[in-house]
Amino acid sequence: MKPLTILSYVLLSSLPTSLAHPGMGETMNQVKRAALASRAEAKQLIGDLKTLKDAQLTSIGKDIKAILLGTKGAESNTIDTSIPPGTVDSAACKADLCCVWKWISYEMTAKFNGTSGRCTKFARGAVRLGFHDAAVWTNTSTSGGADGSILLTNEIDRVDNDGLEAVADVFKAWYNKYNKYGVSMADLIQFGANVATVVCPLGPRIRSFVGRKDNAKAGPTGLLPGVDDSADKLIKLFQLKTIDAHDLVALVGAHTTSQQHFVDTTRDGDPQDSTPGIWDVAFYGQTTGSPPPRVLKFASDIVLSKDSRTKGEWQQFIGGQAHWNEDYAKAYTRLSLLGVNNINDLQECTKVLPPARTSFTSQDQVVLDMWLQGQFDQLNNLVDDAIMLSGVITNPGKKREE
Ligand code: HEM
Ligand SMILES: *[C@@H]1O[C@H](CO)[C@@H](O)[C@H](O)[C@H]1NC(C)=O
Ligand SMILES: *[C@@H]1O[C@H](CO)[C@@H](O)[C@H](O)[C@H]1NC(C)=O
Repeated sequence: MKPLTILSYVLLSSLPTSLAHPGMGETMNQVKRAALASRAEAKQLIGDLKTLKDAQLTSIGKDIKAILLGTKGAESNTIDTSIPPGTVDSAACKADLCCVWKWISYEMTAKFNGTSGRCTKFARGAVRLGFHDAAVWTNTSTSGGADGSILLTNEIDRVDNDGLEAVADVFKAWYNKYNKYGVSMADLIQFGANVATVVCPLGPRIRSFVGRKDNAKAGPTGLLPGVDDSADKLIKLFQLKTIDAHDLVALVGAHTTSQQHFVDTTRDGDPQDSTPGIWDVAFYGQTTGSPPPRVLKFASDIVLSKDSRTKGEWQQFIGGQAHWNEDYAKAYTRLSLLGVNNINDLQECTKVLPPARTSFTSQDQVVLDMWLQGQFDQLNNLVDDAIMLSGVITNPGKKREE
């Protein structure tokens, strides 16, 4: 990492307070302005925000613009814990934009929250589904992006999407149930990714916008990354999506929750760090280190952890949970809006997301440790379902804080 990049990050995160600091002098202010400018320049605008003038922006349009430029965070704890005003069919519910989303949030949370306290394979699938719908887009595409096409066409059958079949069926059923209340597939998929992320212990609570338009035309092929791609190819591919190397490093951290099926079919269910189903930063350190034998590192993650353009940020995230959550939330917000050309007209339903879970106690660590060492080959539901562990734990007194 170039020193200036670290400096810009630190400065930008502390800008309002440090600007007010009297003893810093003109030189520091100049450095800060330069850092702000260089970082803002590096971040590109997308969709209608590229052409709209500030005076034309709605308050949500302004917020999203600031998130995209990196000057505003994308996490929020705004929560409405009241029960919805009525069933999804009631007039009271229909009169409230976020009511249907609250019912959807309940239904998604039930599917994504495992009895082990971790997020389930459906949650992990939902995050990947959100990525695979949105990322079929480049800065020269006239359609595609977060448009629901992955499930409204046969895109889902492409080899890129191997492993997403089960979660695809769940989302199609939700769409069939909720589309008549005005819910688009594009929104359902991106809202689902955000619910899944926050249901995973330690995951960020990402601001959630609705109003995307669906597109029943399949996007172009060849725009999703390959696990054997070089760092250079990956960085360039994401640059074409307006996602810079820094944001790419933040986004691949989603592999913290992952359990692969197709990279090595003889190791179905093997995780990408020792804490699958938990949104922690163990993934970053273990990709560059020596994790337990059950952990399968993706070649793509290894090359990104070593490339000069991405290595510095990778190192920053090791042990930097709050930093990573903040950067992931911003980067995912961008990803979730690729190809969306009515950003200024979106509305917000963040308040119906479940609360963030800022700590996790692993009740089944004894068994998990045995699994990580290579035992219990076929117990792929182990990390999801505490029920799988009944009668297996021999030393339930041993617990470990994650
Ligand atoms: C360098 C770019 C990336 C590559 C090469 C890549 C590749 C992969 C591969 C090969 C799998 C395993 C699929 C399987 O065998 O079942 C996977 C899983 C996953 N990916 Fe990525 N990925 C990338 C970026 C991302 C991004 C940007 C996100 C989300 C923001 C993401 C989220 C996930 C999740 C959540 C899983 C786990 C799915 C599950 O457990 O079922 N990936 N990825
Ligand atoms: C998910 O499950 C855990 C433990 O089983 C519980 O503590 C948590 O409150 C649940 N989350 C939600 C949003 O219901
Ligand atoms: C698209 O992105 C690439 C890589 O950042 C850039 O070189 C190119 O100028 C961009 N094109 C447009 C139309 O924005």
